[in-house]
Amino acid sequence: MIQTTLNQGYRQAKVTLSALLTILLIAFFASETRAQDQGKQLFEKNCQVCHKLGGGKLVGPELMGITQLREREWLVKFIRNSKELIDSGDPLAVKVFEENNKIPMQAFTNLSDAEINSIIDYIGNWKPEEKVEFAVDVNKKDGFTEKEILRGERMFHGLIPFENGGTTACFSCHYTQNSDTINWNPSAYDLAVAFMEEDGMKIYESLSEPTSEVMEKAHREYKLTGEEIYHMAAYLSHISGHGTEQFKIFPKKLMLFILFAILMTLALIDLIFTKKLKYRFIHLIILAVGVAVHFNIAMVEAQNLSRTKDYAPDQPIKFSHAVHAGENQIDCRYCHHIADFSKSAGIPSNDVCLNCHNVVLTGTNSGKFEINKIHRAAKTGKPVEWIRIHNMQEHVFFSHAQHVNAGKIDCETCHGPVAEMDIMKQFSDLSMGWCIDCHRDTKVNFKDNQYYSTYMKLHEEIKAGKFDSVTVEQIGGLDCMKCHY
Ligand code: HEC
Ligand code: HEC
Ligand code: HEC
Ligand code: HEC
Ligand code: HEC
Ligand code: HEC
Ligand code: HEC
Repeated sequence: MIQTTLNQGYRQAKVTLSALLTILLIAFFASETRAQDQGKQLFEKNCQVCHKLGGGKLVGPELMGITQLREREWLVKFIRNSKELIDSGDPLAVKVFEENNKIPMQAFTNLSDAEINSIIDYIGNWKPEEKVEFAVDVNKKDGFTEKEILRGERMFHGLIPFENGGTTACFSCHYTQNSDTINWNPSAYDLAVAFMEEDGMKIYESLSEPTSEVMEKAHREYKLTGEEIYHMAAYLSHISGHGTEQFKIFPKKLMLFILFAILMTLALIDLIFTKKLKYRFIHLIILAVGVAVHFNIAMVEAQNLSRTKDYAPDQPIKFSHAVHAGENQIDCRYCHHIADFSKSAGIPSNDVCLNCHNVVLTGTNSGKFEINKIHRAAKTGKPVEWIRIHNMQEHVFFSHAQHVNAGKIDCETCHGPVAEMDIMKQFSDLSMGWCIDCHRDTKVNFKDNQYYSTYMKLHEEIKAGKFDSVTVEQIGGLDCMKCHY
């Protein structure tokens, strides 16, 4: 009997005790999280402008892990009034002050001990966030809705603000139009092509973890969310097929050209054979407008095609002669090595680029993006399609070997200050007058040049003292047949 009462009492006591414990525990954790919340709020309000957690130095040093390095008592004093502590000669405080370029931290005399401790707790308990995975496939390349594409375009143009800050619009670096000076950042269209190509970039990975120092610097202000990257992917996949406004792939002009060709043919057929339309002036208007449109397009295209002086097209890779022949002093002949013995100077193959770019993987200006194209070409076996700049007419014969090897003329005489050009351009107009003028004025190096031993008569005349030098003209440099087939 006694036994049972005792047992009951014991059991009751156990229940009450465990209930009490639970309540206590809940209360403890609740106050703990409240303290945590308070610490977080205080940190965000007072400290975040100068200190990042887990993001490196801002105005003040990185604070992640600081609670393991310093005594709590010291931390409280330092945070309350660091200047006082430094002035008092505290060696650690002085050291920290000096290590941070003697930038003083403001005092927080308004905060209580409990508040400062809650901040320190928050810093001590802070852990880097796990990477949040976005629910949709951010590296997907098609199947975006019209709305998603439009939202991506707006974001790219800075019309929709980013959730985690970053105010520079993407298109201020990633141009959506052509520029006439070199823009080292990849164009929006370039990005789109790289994104869509099979082993091109993975947009989610590269936007969350920049691929080079250049990109890291340029992208520092952003921390794009998965959802934002998803919309960028939508926009890029769209422009890879359609071009941007100014990088149109299928030109409107071509459509116009074809449309008028069809209209004009129909008008002619009706005018001569079918005679369905009563009013002749309709045919005439169509023909007149059609001819005008075709003529206009032909003129513009011809100007682009004739590769005139100063012609400087955008090349598929931002290859800069200023970087290679200028800054890095690479000899022209390293790349254009056939110039000495061949008619043409030649454009180097991808293998020549790889000689160096198997080792040089990033550029100071362009980061990885442009040099990646060399590696992509090597992988796919698709040669880089350089756009030819100099292009003389078929009926003219010009040989580099004759000029640079026999004639000993510097490349720069004809091609201008190549070592200063970021974008290669045609320097001379390549007209007949240009060739002739030089042939009239330029003396050939006659004496010690085997090439001219055939000109016995001239040699004898020089020996006899008739002339002391010979121009290109005198060796037949103005003969029509020398330059024309
Ligand atoms: C105006 C900018 C600024 C603000 C705001 C600021 N700090 Fe600082 N903090 C600094 C600078 C600069 C230093 C470098 C050392 C110095 O000032 O002597 C520093 C140093 C520190 C250090 C010492 C680091 C070490 O290596 O020991 C701690 C701890 C610290 N800050 C905590 C805080 C806390 C907590 C807050 C918010 C209550 C805060 N800081 C607000 C600029 C700031
Ligand atoms: C590292 C390799 C390299 C070096 C060095 C180099 N080039 Fe080039 N060059 C190229 C490539 C690639 C192209 C095609 C892309 C372009 O036009 O920019 C080119 C194009 C050219 C063109 C225009 C070709 C055309 O399409 O009509 C000329 C002219 C030229 N180079 C001259 C020079 C001269 C002069 C030097 C020395 C001062 C030189 N290059 C040094 C690689 C090189
Ligand atoms: C006397 C003038 C002259 C000199 C000197 C000269 N070039 Fe040219 N270069 C031309 C002309 C003209 C063309 C256009 C040839 C054509 O379209 O058939 C040309 C074309 C080129 C091209 C385009 C590709 C090709 O082979 O047609 C390259 C590259 C080039 N030159 C590089 C050089 C380099 C490198 C040197 C120096 C080693 C050099 N040139 C020296 C006049 C010159
Ligand atoms: C003889 C070595 C050599 C060859 C050959 C060479 N490069 Fe380079 N290239 C360099 C060096 C060095 C740099 C500068 C790297 C830096 O900025 O630190 C460079 C930089 C570049 C850059 C980045 C420029 C910048 O500042 O961001 C591009 C793009 C590039 N090269 C393309 C090419 C292409 C295309 C070819 C082949 C036609 C080629 N290179 C051939 C040595 C070479
Ligand atoms: C201040 C200039 C700048 C701004 C603004 C900028 N970028 Fe970039 N971005 C760069 C540069 C430079 C690179 C290439 C660096 C490299 O490849 O090493 C790059 C690379 C990229 C790449 C390709 C990465 C790869 O792996 O090849 C993507 C995608 C990209 N940017 C998207 C964006 C988006 C989206 C925005 C707007 C939120 C943006 N960029 C804003 C300069 C900028
Ligand atoms: C900067 C001066 C210069 C320019 C510009 C120039 N040449 Fe020449 N050319 C020479 C010299 C010097 C020689 C003599 C070297 C030789 O024949 O070996 C020469 C020789 C020739 C020869 C061989 C003549 C012979 O008698 O064997 C031909 C052909 C020729 N040039 C064509 C052209 C054409 C075509 C152009 C214009 C597209 C041109 N040259 C522009 C300087 C020039
Ligand atoms: C030093 C080289 C050279 C010599 C010599 C030369 N020509 Fe030319 N000729 C050229 C070049 C280069 C062109 C192409 C110019 C152009 O495309 O604008 C040309 C173009 C022409 C054209 C076509 C013009 C056009 O607008 O397409 C004719 C016709 C012509 N030459 C006739 C002659 C006759 C006739 C002679 C002899 C008296 C002669 N050439 C000697 C280099 C030469």
